[in-house]
Amino acid sequence: MPPTAPHSRHRPKIAVMGAGSIGCHLGGSLAGAADVTLIGRPAAMDALREHGLSLTGGGRRVLRVGSSGGPADVRLATRPDAAAGADFVLVTVKSAATADAARLLAPQLTPGTVVVSFQNGLRNTQILDSALDGHPVLAGMVPYNVLRTSPGAFHQGSGGTLMVEDTPRAGPLVRALAGAGLRIEARGDMREVQYAKLLMNLNNAINALSGLPLRDQLGQRAYRECLALSQCEALAAYQAEGIRPARLGPVPARLTPRLLRLPDGLFRRLAAATLAVDAQARSSTWEDLQRGRPTEIDSLQGEVVALAARHALPAPVNTELISLVRRMEAAGPGAGRRWSGGELLAKVTSVR
Ligand SMILES: NC(=O)c1ccc[n+]([C@@H]2O[C@H](COP(=O)([O-])OP(=O)(O)OC[C@H]3O[C@@H](n4cnc5c(N)ncnc54)[C@H](OP(=O)(O)O)[C@@H]3O)[C@@H](O)[C@H]2O)c1
Repeated sequence: MPPTAPHSRHRPKIAVMGAGSIGCHLGGSLAGAADVTLIGRPAAMDALREHGLSLTGGGRRVLRVGSSGGPADVRLATRPDAAAGADFVLVTVKSAATADAARLLAPQLTPGTVVVSFQNGLRNTQILDSALDGHPVLAGMVPYNVLRTSPGAFHQGSGGTLMVEDTPRAGPLVRALAGAGLRIEARGDMREVQYAKLLMNLNNAINALSGLPLRDQLGQRAYRECLALSQCEALAAYQAEGIRPARLGPVPARLTPRLLRLPDGLFRRLAAATLAVDAQARSSTWEDLQRGRPTEIDSLQGEVVALAARHALPAPVNTELISLVRRMEAAGPGAGRRWSGGELLAKVTSVR
């Protein structure tokens, strides 16, 4: 008989599928409020066993880790069967790995297990939903930036409130996250939240092409103009599709391009929250390129280009950004051209 997933337990049992930056951050943060198992690649698990799991930013924590049972803050596993009996499975793999993760999880999940995607991108919940027949799949959103700084060490470089679908099923997870000291909001408009997050994530490619930390890159008007152009194409496609992105910050999404175009001094004053990222923070696209991994560009600029095409709208800036990131992927780990703000702006405006 497979173990059941009793929702009444005080400490929920949580498995995290994908022990990378977000998985280790969420799993490690939850360790005091839930029974956490991280499921990851053997190399990632070896690094955690050797170095432990340390989280910096928002209060440093060093956690003990173990393989099964015993006095460990988090348990480590390399096989998806470690998700059996979990109340919640948090999916934190990159979007391109979602279908495979779902295929591996499907035979392991216990009746009643709730699956929550804490990924960027618009399609992950649908992919999980169709592969995990009968299991509720909820959308989640991570607003802040987490970077792996060394093996086993993860740094949160900015702040914000986690979001998850507002349903009673999410209750124990919401309470555990809040109990772990993370800001969490249950929302009834997660689809609109995902579209709003996509607008913000369009900066990932620009950040990677700049080679700069996020704060330095966003502090320069030419890079912000590139982002504004990219967002304007997305907003036009959203409008054609009838999508109204949620408001996630002080400025409505449709006005963000105007804010981005302000001169540096004024932008710094008015967008203090946007620049409240610490000096180390970089986009995950930058990290993927440094480590020679495929980027999520298809789930970011790729979604805008696809949506625009559906409405016969042009999206040359996003198309060009995809091709520049592809060239960096092809150049190999840490290689490829770094673009100054002026150069990148000239490049993306030359194709309009
Ligand atoms: N990092 C951020 O700041 C941030 C912020 C907000 C949202 N997000 C989103 O969160 C998601 C995760 O991003 P991330 O930066 O945490 O990615 P990441 O560091 O690459 O972590 C994903 C991990 O999952 C592993 N994995 C993939 N498939 C697996 C499988 N079948 N079994 C076990 N492990 C598997 C990956 O290993 P391999 O690399 O070997 O495949 C990798 O170690 C993405 O959608 C991202 O856009 C990231």
